[in-house]
Amino acid sequence: MEYSNDFKTQSPIFDSHSHYDDSRFDDIRNELFDTMHQNGVCGIVTCGCDEASSTAALNMAEQYDFVYAAVGIHPGNIDSGTTVEQIEQLAHHKKCVAIGEIGLDYYWVDDNKPQQIEIFEQQILLAKKLDLPILVHDRDAHADTLEILKRHKPKGVVHCFSGSVEMAQEIIKLGMYIGVGGVITFKNAQKLPDVVKIIPDELLLVETDCPYLAPEPYRGKLCHSGMINLTAQKIAEIRGTTAEEILNLTTANAKTLFNL
Ligand code: NI
Repeated sequence: MEYSNDFKTQSPIFDSHSHYDDSRFDDIRNELFDTMHQNGVCGIVTCGCDEASSTAALNMAEQYDFVYAAVGIHPGNIDSGTTVEQIEQLAHHKKCVAIGEIGLDYYWVDDNKPQQIEIFEQQILLAKKLDLPILVHDRDAHADTLEILKRHKPKGVVHCFSGSVEMAQEIIKLGMYIGVGGVITFKNAQKLPDVVKIIPDELLLVETDCPYLAPEPYRGKLCHSGMINLTAQKIAEIRGTTAEEILNLTTANAKTLFNL
């Protein structure tokens, strides 16, 4: 798989959400991880979506110091056969820093809402029991997601935030972090620039969600953590600051959230 790998920055990049188990990385994963430091990357959380990908995440985290794992059942993978008990077993690994990716997705499938909600809530309870943060996926399910988060008040981040300014304000009130990725560089980012303006410094995180959502001008290409520099530049422009400051503060925030 061809990729661009020339985003040298002196500032530390912490990618709070990625999927390096994806088969698109198979040919280049080791090469990419071996050169991450050249692009300033000092930390990566790679997420699981079921037992297999959560185990893969832990294996990568064992291999590379700067890689950390999240384990969980993604709402799109609730038919995978993975149980919350299996996720609990995996979560005891010393490099597991979060339960995720978990949440609700009514965009792809909306005929199993009660089941999605049940698995989401069970995993929130697991995270609270293990004192771990959660990585929340919310696609076209803003009202239910917010209601559940308000009720359980977990620690964590709403990743690749796609809600309104009003919803962002509610998330901020809960003390949860907001993850901003490559979408902020897209021309059709809609509400996101207004959301980015109001996130307090201490609750902002950057992420890729790679291999998806490469920032402009690489939209549609293979995405990786080194590209976060471009996302940080756009966020900085909106907030009237520098990319360096955004990278420094989001790295500090990630270390606080993931207890590193
Ligand atoms: Ni994701």
